[in-house]
This record gives sequence, C-alpha cells and structure tokens, in this order.
Amino acid sequence: MKKLILAGLCALMIGALPSRAQWGPRAIPEPTDGLKDAYKDYFMVGVAVNNRNVTDAGQIALIKREFNSITAENAMKTQPTEPRKGEFHWEDADRIADFCRRNGIKLRGHTLMWHSQIGPWMYQDEDGKLLPKEEFYANMKHHIQAVVNRYKDVVYCWDVVNEAVADSPVRPGGSELRDSPMYRIAGEEFIYKAFEYAHEADPDALLFYNDYNDAEPAKSRRIYNLVKRMKDAGVPVDGIGMQGHYNIYGPSMDDVDAAITLYSQVVKHIHITELDIRINEDMGGGLRFNQGQARISDWQRTLQQDQYVSLFKVLRKHKDVIDCVTFWNVGDRDSWLGVNNAPLLFDQDYRPKQAYLAVKGFDPKMDAAVIKEDFRPSELNQPGQEYPMVNSQGYVRLRVNAPQARSVIASLGSGTVLHKDADGFWTGTTAAPEDEGFHYYHLTVDGGVFNDPGTLNFFGSTRWESGVEVPAHDAAFYAERDVPHGNVQQILFRSASTDQLRRAFVYTPPQYGKDRKKYPVLYLQHGWGENEYAWWNQGKANLIMDNLIAEGRIEPFIIVMTYGMTNDTRIGGLGGFNYKDFETVLCDELVPYVDAHFRTVARKDGRAMAGLSMGGMETHAITLARPEMFAYYGLLSGGIYTPEEIQDPRQVKGIFIGCGSKEGPDRIMKAAADLQAAGFNAKGYVSEGTAHEFLTWRRCLYEMAPMLFR
Ligand code: XIL
Repeated sequence: MKKLILAGLCALMIGALPSRAQWGPRAIPEPTDGLKDAYKDYFMVGVAVNNRNVTDAGQIALIKREFNSITAENAMKTQPTEPRKGEFHWEDADRIADFCRRNGIKLRGHTLMWHSQIGPWMYQDEDGKLLPKEEFYANMKHHIQAVVNRYKDVVYCWDVVNEAVADSPVRPGGSELRDSPMYRIAGEEFIYKAFEYAHEADPDALLFYNDYNDAEPAKSRRIYNLVKRMKDAGVPVDGIGMQGHYNIYGPSMDDVDAAITLYSQVVKHIHITELDIRINEDMGGGLRFNQGQARISDWQRTLQQDQYVSLFKVLRKHKDVIDCVTFWNVGDRDSWLGVNNAPLLFDQDYRPKQAYLAVKGFDPKMDAAVIKEDFRPSELNQPGQEYPMVNSQGYVRLRVNAPQARSVIASLGSGTVLHKDADGFWTGTTAAPEDEGFHYYHLTVDGGVFNDPGTLNFFGSTRWESGVEVPAHDAAFYAERDVPHGNVQQILFRSASTDQLRRAFVYTPPQYGKDRKKYPVLYLQHGWGENEYAWWNQGKANLIMDNLIAEGRIEPFIIVMTYGMTNDTRIGGLGGFNYKDFETVLCDELVPYVDAHFRTVARKDGRAMAGLSMGGMETHAITLARPEMFAYYGLLSGGIYTPEEIQDPRQVKGIFIGCGSKEGPDRIMKAAADLQAAGFNAKGYVSEGTAHEFLTWRRCLYEMAPMLFR
C-alpha cells in the first residue's frame, strides 16, 4: 500500500517538473496503428527498405503497420540492377517488388539516372573516355526501359533523374546543373531524354525529378527552373521529389514552406522522398557518415522532435500537393548515415521514439489555431523587460539575445524551440496555450542550462528557475488588492538535530501584534525541488490569506513555511526518502521555536499541517506519526488519507485533499468521500484546468483555509 502511494506520488510529482525532457526518453508502448493511419487524410507515409527489412518478421510487421508506400533503398538503382552493360541482376529488386505485390503496398521506383551508384559503362568507354551522346542515350534508354518494364505492374512512380542540379554556391554565370559525366556528354538534354524513355515504357507512372537541399532558397530556385524548362519543353515530368535529408538545426520551416509553394507552381505532385533528420549539422548530400554523437542529449532530442513536428505541420498544410512522405530507412540501425546520427522515428531497436508519438499525435484543430497577437509582458518579468510575453489564450512567447548560439530551447510545453532572426534574437511561442497560472522554465542554449534574463527567478527543481505567469480567470483571489496586508518575515532557528541554523518564513495576519490575541498556525510545506521561498512567492500564500481575511471568510491564522529537506534526495530515490529527519526539525525544533517567539495557540487544536506534492507525503507521514501535534491535515496534489490509517478519528478535526483536474482527480474525490462516509470532517477539491502546478495549490490553499481552526 505504502509503496503504491509512493509510486503514485512520484508519478504525480514528475508532472510538476519544469522540463520533462530532462528525465530522458520514456518507454513507449508498442503502437497499435501506424503513421499511415494517422495521416490517411493527408498523404501516404513511406519508407526506404533494404533486404533485411523485408525478410525479418518483426521488421515486416512494423513496415506493414506503419507505412503504405515503399522505396527500395538501393536495389533498383543503376549499378545494382545493371553493374555491367547488359548484365542485369534482379534478385534484390524482385524481392522488394514481390514484398509490395504480396502485401498490396505501393512501390516508389528509385532511381533511374543518377551520377552515383551507376556503372561507368553507362557513359564512358574502357579507357575512361566519355561516350558519344548517341551511345550514351542508347545505354540509358535500354537500361531505363528494362527496369521500368520489369516493375511497371507495381511501381506507381519513379524518381527518374536524381540530383542533377548544382549545389550552392553557383558562381555567377556558372551552370545551374551538376557537372556530371552525363551532363558533360549531353548537357541538360540527358534529363529530358531520361523522362521520355521512362514515359515511353510506362505512360501511367508518375515521373519525378528528385534532389536534396531541396528547401535551400537558391537551390530550390534552380530545381524549380529546371523543372519549369522541362515543362515548357513538353517533357513528361509530373512531380518533384524533395529528398528531405535534414538536420536538427535546419532547414527553417519558412524555407520548406516557401520551397513547396514554389514547386507547386510547376508540378501537381510533390513527394518527400528520403526523410531523415540528423542530430548534427550535416545536410543533404554531405555524406559524412556517423558524424552524430554517440550519446545523444535530451536537448538534441527536443530539437529533432521539434523539427519533425514542425515539418509535418507544414506538410499537412500542403496536403493538396504532397501525396507521399517517405522516411529514408526504417530504424536508426538501418540508417545510411550510421546509427549515431539517430535520424529516424524508430530507434536502433525499432522502438518508436517520443518524436514518433509527437508526429503521429498531431491535433488538426491546433493546425488551424490562430494565435492572437495580444501578447503582454508576463507580470513576473524583471523591471523594464518585455519578454516573456503571454497572450489572452495562454500562449507564451519568448525572446532572448544570443547572437552566437546554435540552438535555444525553453522548457515550456514539451520544449519550445526558439528560432533566430537576423538581429541575433531568438524567438519562440509555445505550441499550445499553457495552463493558467505559474510555470517554471529555463533555457537550454547549445546544451547548457540558463535562466531567461527577462524574468524573475523562483526556486524549483532544486535551482532558481525562470518563471512566467499566465493570468488566471480567477486571479482576484491571489491578486494584490487594496486590503489590509499581513507580513512575511524571515526567522532563523537553531536546529540541534541537524546542527544548523535553519530558515523559515512566517506569515502573520494584518491584525497580528495589534492586540494580545493568539493565532493558530498552519505549517505549510512545498514540494520536491522547492524550498521555504516557494509558498509566499510562486504560491502567493500571503496575498491569498490577506484577501480571505478581508472577505471575512476565515479565522485569521499564521502560516509557517520552512524547507522540508526534500531536495536532499534525488529523483529515483524518493521511495527511500526519510521523513524522520524533517519530522524532528519540524515538531521538536521549529514548532517550539514558533510557539516561543510568536503569539500562537500553542496546542494541537491551534496547529495544522499541509503540503503540496512531496510536502503532502511529508504531511501524511508526520501527521500520522505525531497524532498529538496537529489537528488539521491538508494534502495538495500529495496523495490521500484512508480512514483505516487514522487510528483514532478524534485525532483530526479536518482533512483537506485536493489536486488539479489534470492529475487524476477521481482518486482524490473518492478518498474524500470515503473519509466523509467514515465520519471525518473531510473536504475534497479539484482545481479545474490545472495540473501539478502552482495555480492548483494556490486554489487549494484558498479552499482549505476556511475549514481550518473552526
Ligand atoms: C543512399 C543509400 O541509403 C546508401 O545505402 C548508399 O550507400 C548510398 O545511397 N540520396 C539518394 C539516395 O537519392 O539514393 C541515397 O541513398 C541517399 C542520398
């Protein structure tokens, strides 16, 4: 039972941590359907396969689940099919074609004319001299038509010519086309011929021009120019293949969007033909193998996921012209870039990555969402700072200056990736509205963790984090209103058990000290990663109290907030956390100190203990271990009490249990009902629209306070 509660609390608490990514990849259950299903209203989702992929039972199952288009990674290329003139090898290509025939999966043909993976016999004689144009054309026609004819029952489109456009930069007046042997023999015409031969062999196949660096503005213009000239000359070209060998830094989605828009002016079909996103700076045809890091960091994963998610969003937007998106290889193990580049959505063991879920789990409503441009500075900003900003929908927009940085990520949402503008400023907006209320975050700049210089800092995750506040619709209950205000003062008390001078903050109500009245005390604990500053800063406990007192809704009381020693454990070791040390500090040192130095009702009836998250676990343990100490208990996203574990119902005068609606509220409400049924004065509360976060706990304090000391 205890173990279960702990496990449950740990799960609850993880949600509170500012960056989920920092806990490493989570195991993802075996999917029941695939990318092809998620994208059925948009485009086909394909994959490039090798021999192993189509002969291994596990990989076959994955391919059939996920994809509805296949490309042979190498088997249909010129060199593999016809290494020497007239000498055809079909086994590998046939195996893949048969796999597609058997399983009713569409086959993209790749590729008929490419300067790479081609037998030199195609374009030169035995002495290495380029062939006369006619002979080259005869070779090309014979080859193309042999391959196209053999597979025309199953291949629905062909990458006819591959990578014939020159890379940037092209010197002024230089050719827009690659200086390949074929080009040297015949100029641009060889491209036209290749399409004509293919079309002759299979008039039904869609014929593509395919290339990389397809989103780079200058090269995409050259690709467009080539295809435009072909169209104008009546060449049977139907589509443009954007290879899409991208990386975690680029291309920008504006460039991808612009390239697709440009291409769609000249063709009706665009395929992403060879998609992968490397964990390094290489792009396109830069064939530097295994350049990735052997150990991939979470920030790199975040960049990769963001790049995939942003790309698919652009592709969905262009679904009218995009008919197929093909990944270049099944899992990282197969990747032509080497496993260390980890460029795919399935890892080296063919397990789906978090990015797979993110690509698959898109929300069509969010695609259409319009972000209102009514952003205002967050109320937690440093003086004079404009950013971060928050809009009326709850989107957060960040902007920081880091002219030399390569990447900036804010730990909001599942990681908000910022993009650099011409002035060296990085800007980004959360992908979705944030919950109302307070959020911790930090920036990860090139893998290093920094705070946002725009905001104040708040202690959470065992460090001073940046904070941003999304105004809540019910913010009045914790607003700074024109009512009498109490004080928050720091006390330093000697702790013999820990041999330390320890700190606490004490809230005293406005009336405190003005008469001889004694006040009851709530000992209020923070959660894991936080400390004694949390409740009166991000928690606004003092303002909540001032407002409640002004409204006459509560009996005024003192709140004592001290460090609950929660951070002397590390995540993973929570189950082993020892409450006893804190129990001693609290019950045997702090409570006597407070009773000696403040006008308190120094008996059990005048004491309550409550805590959020891990502070709730402490509250639970300490109130039960010391039934003589506290008369009121409160657990805020911090578990439950059962009637059975409270030995004598008379030991407690009130129990409050609350949490956010996004953190499993049923269990909380059931526990409260069980307690009530057993005769306890118990209250359950669910904060609507919030998770394991401070607005939940502000509201909990507001709801709990009126039931204390009555
Ligand atoms: C790659 C294959 O994946 C590798 O196995 C092979 O060694 C080289 O070619 N552009 C293309 C693809 O059009 O055919 C290339 O495939 C990757 C770059």
